[in-house]
Amino acid sequence: MDALAAASAGPKLNATVKPSPKRTRHVFKNAIVRIPGSNFAQGLTTVWLGVPRFDGVLQQHARYCEALRECGLTITALDADLDYPDSTFVEDTAVLTARSAILTRPGARSREGEVAAIHQTISSFFPAPLEIEAPGTLDGGDICEAENHFFLGLSHRTNEEGARQLAVHLARHGYTSSVIDVRGMTSILHLKSGIAYIGNNTLVVIEEMAGNPLFQSYERIRVAVEESYAANCVRVNQRVLVAAGYPQFAAELAARGFNPLELEMSEFQKMDGGLSCLSLRF
Ligand code: GLY
Repeated sequence: MDALAAASAGPKLNATVKPSPKRTRHVFKNAIVRIPGSNFAQGLTTVWLGVPRFDGVLQQHARYCEALRECGLTITALDADLDYPDSTFVEDTAVLTARSAILTRPGARSREGEVAAIHQTISSFFPAPLEIEAPGTLDGGDICEAENHFFLGLSHRTNEEGARQLAVHLARHGYTSSVIDVRGMTSILHLKSGIAYIGNNTLVVIEEMAGNPLFQSYERIRVAVEESYAANCVRVNQRVLVAAGYPQFAAELAARGFNPLELEMSEFQKMDGGLSCLSLRF
């Protein structure tokens, strides 16, 4: 399904489509993160990799923040929020573009309140952010930005209505989008568990998604099945943040001229978390 076709089926909005200059969207100056809470292990997970060690969680998070600073970003670090064990995965609460901010409506009931908890912080950078409204649900982890185009994942967290509303918001700001249904893929929680756009017209993709016709115009780096977790990587300025322990993928990135920065992610992986989920970058 084409997201814009879906969007046009809904209520008409006053469309103000601005010109879409090609820009390099992996150039960031800021990031918002949230310190993991001591009840992090009580969050949601679909994997059976054991219980995260809280000291390891804090260490890996601190190193992640340090890496963002090394990439030149200024960090806004929010306090831990014990009301929401998954709230360190801030990416799910908003979609930030160069032209707008859209607050999401997370698809897991236990995470719904995370948006209200971060609203003020996002508003301090993006006055009057847009919102995904009921019955739409949408997790930021399902949204992959590739220059002026967005891939919108339909998942067990993001529904058609959430994707439709986001497509409308994006179109009003001159962005195109297309929908990818990942609901049948048991190996990934979110779209970005399986794909990443890392600049230079290059997509990182897990094997299961590599043949998607929507990706035909991109250079593709296929991640070997045994290294699938590494597909959730993040281009930040001159570096690509990658999970440590996936040597084939790191070598492939380097061979193609990218500059990988490896980070230990074992404790977040136990809770279905990846590198992109841990920050909102803009
Ligand atoms: N633990 C991350 C999530 O399920 O949303």
